[in-house]
Amino acid sequence: MSVVGIVPAGGSGERLGADRPKAFVVCAGRPLIEWSLEVLEAVCDRVVVAAPPDWLRPGWVEGGPSRSASVRNALAAAPEARTAVVHDAARPLVTRELVEACVGALMGVDGAIAAARVTDTVKEAHPDGTVLRTLDRARLWAVQTPQVFRAEALRRALEADDATLAAATDDASLVEAAGGTVRLVEAPPGNIKVTTEADLARAEAALC
Ligand code: CTP
Ligand code: MG
Repeated sequence: MSVVGIVPAGGSGERLGADRPKAFVVCAGRPLIEWSLEVLEAVCDRVVVAAPPDWLRPGWVEGGPSRSASVRNALAAAPEARTAVVHDAARPLVTRELVEACVGALMGVDGAIAAARVTDTVKEAHPDGTVLRTLDRARLWAVQTPQVFRAEALRRALEADDATLAAATDDASLVEAAGGTVRLVEAPPGNIKVTTEADLARAEAALC
């Protein structure tokens, strides 16, 4: 039962606006990606990273034009994987406990994904800002990574065309679209994503 970590790190980090791709920006003394790698390497048999061409290390693969294309490239380099643990380099506060909880929740489903209850009231609106409806917050979850899948289900889901992959904001949505079943795993509050400079400062403060 080979468990392979898949780390999409092929983005440029446009919103962060640093002098290098976001995954390689220093956060609390080490490149951002190292925090995630340390946790994944403790749980997985091996980890494959999809990175920008100038940032590759041995065993890593080149990222693709979208996040999901990067996941596809990394998974293609791990044909032995039975379980795929996908985790964004941009979430350095992930814990071993959360990864293990997702792996443990995979029984009988195709995917088990970290998620947090939504605390704001969420409304659906027209592009002009007119509110269409208020959604039932009790049923809403904000989805994160890690996202753990039966590797075969993820492989099948990633066979979609490039436009579909580019439109997907997570891997679970592709698995759902392919008919797969996905279960939520409640994440602790700290598992933030580094998108902006303010997020980087928050992550740094939490990791120091
Ligand atoms: N990612 C990737 N390949 C891409 C785009 C994104 O592997 N073509 C990765 C990023 O490196 C990151 C994760 O997917 O670890 C989540 O994406 P995001 O937070 O949007 O990072 P970036 O795309 O790098 O940032 P931005 O959208 O601000 O450019
Ligand atoms: Mg992006």
